[in-house]
Amino acid sequence: MKWSILIFTFLFSQAHAQEFQTEARALASDLKTSLMKNVSEQISKQGPVKAISFCHDNVKPIAKNTAGDRMSKYEFGRTSHKIRNMDNRATPWMAVYLKEFQGTFKGDNQKEFILHKLENGKQVYVEPLYIQAQCLFCHGDQISKDVQKKLNELYPKDQAIGFKLNEFRGFIWIKEK
Ligand code: HEC
Repeated sequence: MKWSILIFTFLFSQAHAQEFQTEARALASDLKTSLMKNVSEQISKQGPVKAISFCHDNVKPIAKNTAGDRMSKYEFGRTSHKIRNMDNRATPWMAVYLKEFQGTFKGDNQKEFILHKLENGKQVYVEPLYIQAQCLFCHGDQISKDVQKKLNELYPKDQAIGFKLNEFRGFIWIKEK
């Protein structure tokens, strides 16, 4: 009897972990796609300077809108070893993973994602983000003067420039509530 309870508990927790991984991965993918779609649209319509103001004002509402009902189950955000918005500062456990990835390039580190368990038992899905060509407008090592001016204005403590193509930029994370 005891064994069957143990086996059941084990199988249940495995199924739960699998469900979390699938859902978190899908949510991360949706968030990345919708943010990039919006930013690209803004860059082509209004140019990178206005696109920065757009990001400043709209990243959170766009992400919430994309997540929809999933907001009731999951919390999410982005972080980096070089941050722009100070609200995105890493927690101590995230900083450990950031150290592992910082300075690496796409393909260097074979981990596509990390599953981290918090002390309270909740799971967190953590996925690395790499610099694509379009990110360079606002995070690259050759930023235009106008972009730099806008960044100084909106993010006086900005650290998130100087990245190269395919360089590790930070993480997107999804946490169980
Ligand atoms: C139009 C300019 C622009 C482009 C293009 C852009 N970003 Fe950003 N990025 C920003 C701004 C502005 C913020 C801060 C948003 C905020 O206030 O929450 C930011 C924040 C971030 C963060 C959150 C961590 C932090 O530093 O606060 C990550 C991670 C990030 N960007 C990655 C990327 C990646 C990867 C790409 C390309 C796929 C990209 N960005 C393209 C402007 C841009």
